[in-house]
Amino acid sequence: MSLRHGIQAVFQKLGYVIVRRENFIDPVSMHRSDGLETCHNRDFVNEPDFMRAYARGLQAADGIDPGHHWRVAIALWAARLAARVDGDFVECGVNAGFMSSAIMESLDWNRSGRRYFLVDSFEGPRMEQFTEHEHASGFVARIEDAVRRDAYVTDFERVQQNFAEWPSAVIVKGWVPEALSKVDANQVAFLHLDLNAAQPERDAFAHFWPRLPAGGVVLLDDYAFYGCEAQKAAIDKLADELGFFVLSLPTGQGLVVKGV
Ligand SMILES: C[S@@+](CC[C@H](N)C(=O)[O-])C[C@H]1O[C@@H](n2cnc3c(N)ncnc32)[C@H](O)[C@@H]1O
Repeated sequence: MSLRHGIQAVFQKLGYVIVRRENFIDPVSMHRSDGLETCHNRDFVNEPDFMRAYARGLQAADGIDPGHHWRVAIALWAARLAARVDGDFVECGVNAGFMSSAIMESLDWNRSGRRYFLVDSFEGPRMEQFTEHEHASGFVARIEDAVRRDAYVTDFERVQQNFAEWPSAVIVKGWVPEALSKVDANQVAFLHLDLNAAQPERDAFAHFWPRLPAGGVVLLDDYAFYGCEAQKAAIDKLADELGFFVLSLPTGQGLVVKGV
């Protein structure tokens, strides 16, 4: 008898039921997308509010579905939490506007009484912003590949048209960190960081943190993402300096709630 079977036999004699992993996973209903594989409940994908918000995100992305359902569900939840406190919303790293459009649709933005600042170069990433580690890990090579595949939107008119239905959307075209001075929000309830680069993400976080009230939310799109270790390291260092805690999520995101 192998050691494993021996241990199982002892447990069974003691009256324990050995629950085998394959007994409670229905492989047909496994969720496999966006770096995440789980058998857990995802009823949210069929909820009308979620479906409407996700569809609006897809509209911004010209119908190209990245399969980011769970990521979007977390962002919608985080945005709803942030909407309990006063302040504008800010996204750094907008691209076509997939995530921010889903959030604005979900929160019925024209009734929110807030502004949504959307900061992006709309020229793709600035290659000199990457750290040595981001080069050495092969992350920059992946970014270069994305640039070659035209994954970054440079058609500014298209972006303006996408957000035209929300007059309080403020599109800020420019580079982070320099462009952050154009965001004239005194209080920020929700900050979404998705710049795919450690240094500007760290700078944007440090810039806006003093403007977040208690209960304000920061959502980091790439914090726990495989290959994005430099971003995690930069934010973790800032967390030590500023005294906040990041919840690492299986979607690759990181979540911070001020005051928690
Ligand atoms: C992953 S995309 C953002 C995706 C977007 N959040 C969405 O929902 O689809 C990253 C964006 O960051 C922008 N970006 C990267 N570095 C930047 C910088 N230093 N300043 C401004 N924009 C930058 C790129 O132009 C690109 O549009």
